Amino acid sequence: MSYKSSGIKINIPVMNAACSITKSMEDLEALLATRADTVVLGSVTWLGRQANPEPNWFAGDDQGFALNSVSMPNEGHEWYQTNLPEMVERTHAAGKRLLLNVAGFSTDEYSQLAEMAKNGNVDGVEFNLGCPNTVEAGWQNPIFSFDVDALQIVLRGADRILSPKTPYMVKLSPYSNPAELSRVASVIGESKAGGVVTTNTFPNSYWQNNAGRAVILPNNGLAGMSGEAMLPIGLGQVKQFRQQLPESKIVIGVGGITRPEHIEQYLRAGAAAVQVATYIVRNGHQAINDLIM
Ligand SMILES: Cc1cc2nc3c(=O)[nH]c(=O)nc-3n(C[C@H](O)[C@H](O)[C@H](O)COP(=O)(O)O)c2cc1C
Repeated sequence: MSYKSSGIKINIPVMNAACSITKSMEDLEALLATRADTVVLGSVTWLGRQANPEPNWFAGDDQGFALNSVSMPNEGHEWYQTNLPEMVERTHAAGKRLLLNVAGFSTDEYSQLAEMAKNGNVDGVEFNLGCPNTVEAGWQNPIFSFDVDALQIVLRGADRILSPKTPYMVKLSPYSNPAELSRVASVIGESKAGGVVTTNTFPNSYWQNNAGRAVILPNNGLAGMSGEAMLPIGLGQVKQFRQQLPESKIVIGVGGITRPEHIEQYLRAGAAAVQVATYIVRNGHQAINDLIM
């Protein structure tokens, strides 16, 4: 399978999603050792970041969902500027493609990160507009997915900086308001984006242990939900974006995949490919092989 119109070439339609085990050189090597032929690295932010205080991850296997407030720890642009060329080289030597997932805290930062990705010769960029888990001075940062004007500025920056040699995708939060989803689809439809990656975690979810204590520490226990419960939500987002985006843009489905049948569900709903996070955070990088038929 190859989706040339979007600029994103996909052969095996199953890849990792950006998460806590997709950042370092060691993570890259582990992902290159799987059968997936596309690796998503990130999220990378302009400045290096520490993880939120623990517990920031609730695996929730027997609950049917996971929660995280990890908050995109990574080494920041200086480390990636130095190491990206080698990461790309190793990926290409393995006959695979590297997509770099970047997350900004301002529209300018997204542009700076786009420049970095272009100079690093990655095969594509994923703009993460949906992390709900960053808190500064006690306040939760706004989520770009829900600010259509800011999203449009990010897209204009990407259209200016990136050429077809470095195609890009937009990774979004789930929209419960169909009118908002339509506005976003229309703005993305008019941009040069190759398509959307949907969906990031469901923001501000909450769970307590038997003692009534929140299972996640930061942000008052509020955290992004992922895992099984995200499957129908992700499928609904894919279906709507597929209906509303121009044919030339692809939709990559993410959320809740723990079995090969779930991938079938996404492909039938209109996804060109899928990504997987919680399943590999729970079971290790190699577990992605369980899902590739
Ligand atoms: C522990 C963890 C960390 C994550 N970190 C990121 C991240 O840095 N950037 C990003 O775009 N998405 C991040 N995500 C969201 C996932 O990429 C994915 O969109 C979401 O978890 C839904 O997929 P899943 O049900 O397969 O986990 C993270 C998810 C998890 C579970």
